[in-house]
Amino acid sequence: MPIEFADRLRNVETSAIRELFKLLGKPGIISFAGGFPDSALFDVEGLSQASQQVLTTQAGAALQYGATEGYGPLREQLAHFMADKGISARAEDLIVTTGSQQALDLLGKVMINPGDKVIVEGPTFLATIQCFRLYGAHLISAPIDAQGVLVDRLEQLIVEHKPRMIYLIPTFGNPSGAMLSIERRMRVLELAAKYGVLVVEDDPYGDLYFGDPPPPSLMALSAQVSGSRDCLAYCGSLSKVLSPGLRVGWMVAPAQLLARATMCKQFSDAHTSTFSQATAAFYLESGRMPLSVAQVRRIYAERAAAMGQALREQLGRALRFSQPQGGMFFWAQLTGEGGRTQQATELAQKAIEQGVAFVPGAPFYASDPDPSTLRLSFATADLARIQEGVRRLKVALG
Ligand SMILES: Cc1ncc(COP(=O)(O)O)c(C=O)c1O
Repeated sequence: MPIEFADRLRNVETSAIRELFKLLGKPGIISFAGGFPDSALFDVEGLSQASQQVLTTQAGAALQYGATEGYGPLREQLAHFMADKGISARAEDLIVTTGSQQALDLLGKVMINPGDKVIVEGPTFLATIQCFRLYGAHLISAPIDAQGVLVDRLEQLIVEHKPRMIYLIPTFGNPSGAMLSIERRMRVLELAAKYGVLVVEDDPYGDLYFGDPPPPSLMALSAQVSGSRDCLAYCGSLSKVLSPGLRVGWMVAPAQLLARATMCKQFSDAHTSTFSQATAAFYLESGRMPLSVAQVRRIYAERAAAMGQALREQLGRALRFSQPQGGMFFWAQLTGEGGRTQQATELAQKAIEQGVAFVPGAPFYASDPDPSTLRLSFATADLARIQEGVRRLKVALG
């Protein structure tokens, strides 16, 4: 019997990336395609100690149902974690979510009516595109460069479309790797306050900087722009700095929004795993995080440098990109130099045949995709595999 599904599913399609991932099982393939952190860098010892502590001291609470808002000690720890980055938020100003992905879903649920306009960066995080579309959002793409969203254009789009919400990844965007400059951060905050529009700051990568720390987050800077804090929601995540398998993220937002998000979370998963939350709380309390993240930064920085150099040496002018200053991704454009293909999807197929994978950029655009773009992750391959993978890419490009 054919099953008739809800109308809302018509707005979304399975991701082209997922289709590509099916090919990744091929033996010997070097993958620059994933968005995963390197599992070899997880602080297994620290997490093992933390989980032991949970079971010896908090077993009752940690194995029991818990509050929808989150496990109290973790909310406290997350408030400290943010305070270290200049964000002033009390434990009660945040809720713990099942990954920051759930925070995005909750924002979609509580904010978006079918047909509402939402501005996103072009390109942006694919799962956000899919999730907001599921709620019927009409997505408007704001153009970006290596310094993030073009703020004059953003203002024009706000005036033209009167969006319900603006979604940005200001620091080391996925897929763009872009970092919003401090001047543009201030402009975004001014625009939020001026037009009274909710700006969602998604920040899973802010701690993964390679040189100087990035500018403070929008939420940290909001203290300097009157009225902007009330127009901001901040989504954080432990996925890229500790472990995505824990599924611990969080959201800071105005109290009325947080209350409604909490209500929706209650109907959805009741609460994020108490065991995961308690483990994360003990881990953060242990003080191991700064050392562990410093090690991740150092290794990703080496890999990013190696990939940048290899791409420049092997592909020369055939590929245009900015060297990322943090995060996990290169965002690049095929220039068509020497008559080579400018179609990233075509190159992706040939690359798989050569034993290297990356993700074509088009699916990351909510509108007007640029077929010449592609995303390369440097997070999981060691230096030798990065060299070899880029060499294979050169062969594929011809
Ligand atoms: C920009 C961005 N936001 C949110 C997420 C979701 O992360 P998680 O749900 O693991 O916290 C990701 C994961 O790749 C991401 O790249």
